[in-house]
Amino acid sequence: MRIILLGPAGSGKGTQADLIMETFGFPKISTGDLLRQAVQQGTELGKKVSEVMKVGNLVEDEIVLKLVEERIQLPDCRQGYVLDGFPRNLNQALLLEKMVKESQEIVFEIEATEEEILKRLAGRRVCLQCQAVYNINNDNNKTDNSYRCNNCGSKLVIREDDKPEVIRERYKIYIRNIKPLIDYYAGKGVLFQIDGQKPVEEVFRAIKSIIEKKLSNYSVSSGRR
Ligand code: AP5
Repeated sequence: MRIILLGPAGSGKGTQADLIMETFGFPKISTGDLLRQAVQQGTELGKKVSEVMKVGNLVEDEIVLKLVEERIQLPDCRQGYVLDGFPRNLNQALLLEKMVKESQEIVFEIEATEEEILKRLAGRRVCLQCQAVYNINNDNNKTDNSYRCNNCGSKLVIREDDKPEVIRERYKIYIRNIKPLIDYYAGKGVLFQIDGQKPVEEVFRAIKSIIEKKLSNYSVSSGRR
């Protein structure tokens, strides 16, 4: 089972990927997290992508594809995985298609307006050590006054690309690339559009019920019951 989460910055892809992981046990593969880790660790890759990410541009397709390829070969991905932030354009989707063999695929497009995103990302705080995400405004994942990560105790920070002008640029890039991607997955009959403006739990309820239905169809058709 391959689950793909599409949506603009701040639509809640990472938040929903974490919930899918907790509920169904499919590991989350976030290309953004993998790239930020490389930047944080100062690796050659990190040095190469740091400036591109800072201004909100997309990293080269071949770089992200390699990251995904290495990650999905690990044993924990055998039953399935969630792709958060990949693919981001049609070329990445076609490269992914060539690389993977599994036939079960669900694609969620999580929709949210630019206005909502700007509001949410102004309040986002992240832990660069364990990648946990918080928000100073929402009840969900609210930070306490210490601004420390509940998981690992590290200091929470504002992402470098969460400046309003960079958020706007990321949104523009998303809009530029998304149409062919949506058409492609709609054509394959695997696309589900989700209203990402609703509260986190409601968004997840919609996603969960679709995954459960797919999993149960799969068990029946493959005689796994
Ligand atoms: P990436 O890290 O993937 O960033 P993004 O796609 O811009 O998405 P975000 O992580 O900003 O938002 P999200 O949708 O995950 O929202 P979240 O759940 O955190 O990529 C960063 C950069 O890496 C890219 O710009 C690019 O340079 C590079 N990159 C990555 N992948 C690439 C690729 N495939 N190709 C090329 N380059 C690539 O939620 C946001 C906030 O809102 C949180 O505080 C959360 O608590 C809150 N929230 C979530 N849901 C709700 C809700 N329903 N209601 C209220 N608040 C909510």
